[in-house]
Amino acid sequence: MGKVTISVIKADIGGFPGHSNVHPALMEIAKEELSKLKGKILKDFRVLHCGDDLQLIMTHNKGVDNKEIHKLAWNLFVKGTKEAKRLKLYGAGQDLLKDTFSGNVKGMGPGVAEMEIEERKSEPLLVFMADKTEPGAWNYALYKMFADPFSTAGLVIDPHMHDGFTFEVHDLFEKKKVLIKTPEETYDLLALIGEPSRYVIKHVFRNSDHEIAASTSTQRLSLIAGRYVGKDDPVMIVRAQSGLPAVGEVLEPFSFPYAVAGWMRGSHHGPFMPVGFDQATPSRFDGPPRVICAGFQIANGMLEGPRDMFKDVSFDRARTMANEMADYFRRMGPFEPHRLSAAEMEYTTLPGVLKKLEKRFRKI
Ligand code: F6R
Ligand code: MG
Ligand code: MG
Repeated sequence: MGKVTISVIKADIGGFPGHSNVHPALMEIAKEELSKLKGKILKDFRVLHCGDDLQLIMTHNKGVDNKEIHKLAWNLFVKGTKEAKRLKLYGAGQDLLKDTFSGNVKGMGPGVAEMEIEERKSEPLLVFMADKTEPGAWNYALYKMFADPFSTAGLVIDPHMHDGFTFEVHDLFEKKKVLIKTPEETYDLLALIGEPSRYVIKHVFRNSDHEIAASTSTQRLSLIAGRYVGKDDPVMIVRAQSGLPAVGEVLEPFSFPYAVAGWMRGSHHGPFMPVGFDQATPSRFDGPPRVICAGFQIANGMLEGPRDMFKDVSFDRARTMANEMADYFRRMGPFEPHRLSAAEMEYTTLPGVLKKLEKRFRKI
């Protein structure tokens, strides 16, 4: 069946209106551009959006970090930005932080999650896309999927999963990575990933054969730009079934709308709300943070799908709970822990306000 690479590359190149959605014109440009490449450099593609982020889901045979693939995504975002500017969309070109393409979109603003796999007899694959939050938002869900037997029954029941999984964790501040093996080192893993603003799970591998199971985008815009330029709005690819968590085990962690950082001005904690594609339109207080999931079967590199996984009635209660949590958090106004901690607010526009007050402080 051979190898296939799945590349999910995304950027916010302009919102409509504000930061709530992607304009249909940008979706059209993306579809047109990728259509020209299908059957050539690309095997297949889908264009989706989550909130104001344009999502390119592509399959090809070129492996991860491929210059041609990254360049075509970059060129598409540049072209889309021209139209976004013409329509005066909000924050046109927001995520294109560099002027010229340097061989890889990593470190240039767009988010990227990729994996090269040997296509199995049947290859169910889930692509998660988030808006109004940061890459560490996947930590909780990935832990539940691949290391929590109370969430994923297969860790106990399926002999192929019983040896557990290894997590590749990145320290986004020090630019270092570490491999942590579960279940043996579960507590070490939690010691790190409980701080999702800094430690982020990049990959997950199955212990029994080192097969890749999950891959995420880990770019933090503020660390690239050195200032607040909107939230990172990460993406994630997860393979499922036959010795990996079942599709339903991959989805299960999102039945609880755990709190993530982001939301209004990238400065607030709020519930991570799973929604269908047509509800991926942050509204209240520019949110609450959203997550959508596109389900595919990969067939000889072609994408069968997407199925809109969170549209299902079984996630209605998660949405209700998320809206209740939103009420709870919102009533705290500018107080922590609704507002992010001081350390995280460093990367927002708040320090500009605090600077003005500095001179007025007297010793006590
Ligand atoms: C969050 C986000 C928005 C903006 C907010 C203010 O990621 O992008 O919540 O931070 O709408 O935007 P400005 O300052 O451009 O008016
Ligand atoms: Mg935006
Ligand atoms: Mg966004």
